[in-house]
Amino acid sequence: MNIQGVAAVVTGGASGIGAGVVRILAQAGAKIAILDRNIELAETLAKEVGGVAVACDVAKDDSVQKAFAAAQEKNGAARILVNCAGIDTARKIASHKTGAHAIGPMQRVIDVNLVGTLSCCAHASTAMLDLEVLDDDGERGVLINIASIAAFNAPNGQSVYAASKAGVVGATLPLARDLAHYGIRVVTIAPGLFDTPLAGTMDDKLTGQLLRRTLFPKRKGRPEEIGALVQHICENQMLNASTIRIDAGFF
Ligand SMILES: NC(=O)c1ccc[n+]([C@@H]2O[C@H](COP(=O)([O-])OP(=O)(O)OC[C@H]3O[C@@H](n4cnc5c(N)ncnc54)[C@H](O)[C@@H]3O)[C@@H](O)[C@H]2O)c1
Repeated sequence: MNIQGVAAVVTGGASGIGAGVVRILAQAGAKIAILDRNIELAETLAKEVGGVAVACDVAKDDSVQKAFAAAQEKNGAARILVNCAGIDTARKIASHKTGAHAIGPMQRVIDVNLVGTLSCCAHASTAMLDLEVLDDDGERGVLINIASIAAFNAPNGQSVYAASKAGVVGATLPLARDLAHYGIRVVTIAPGLFDTPLAGTMDDKLTGQLLRRTLFPKRKGRPEEIGALVQHICENQMLNASTIRIDAGFF
């Protein structure tokens, strides 16, 4: 897909990885809508890239529905969705010190990272169904979800987060099967450690442990490096139904 002039929705686009994606897609000529619960940050970035900001909690379906309608009113129906909204939790499932993992934060992580991602896929793809095809192959759009390498290999304390991200990885193939008939691709990205406010909440010990387990380069990734991958996925039609790791060889 040629990104120039195409409408793109980036959830969680106000910060970190999402902000990197927003900047790269805007440079490539996309009309950007940032859907984020942090509306102040979203508005600042939207102003920088000439896009729109819409307040949204991806875990609430009515909020997602209204936000997609507002974005569509400004930019037209999006052909690109990038699901970056996500939260972390680091807590053992049980220990003498902390007892049982509380259900509240468990539910919230699943609701934001997994249900939120699926809900945005549902609303974005519904609007894509009636768009004109872009080319002889019949492409209409692409859904890109940000999972995590935690889906495959997470440290202790990350069972809930890992489960939420494994859900996104698992959904990728059936989502792509559901939407293939309409010329809509679905690709998931599984990042390793990236330099964002979310990763900054991790203590130095855990950060050091994770960096020791990367092959090369031994540094946190930069959000624009995920932005560049998102741009490539949009432009390369042969990428579909798979999960791409971007993790400097994390083992
Ligand atoms: N940073 C990393 O090392 C790393 C690694 C693997 C995966 N990820 C994933 O990448 C995604 C982005 O993470 P990040 O590191 O950029 O974090 P971040 O905290 O910098 O950005 C997350 C953004 O999502 C928004 N958000 C959170 N909950 C939301 C909700 N319910 N509705 C709407 N917006 C919401 C936040 O306001 C924020 O703008 C997340 O899904 C995260 O799990 C990050």
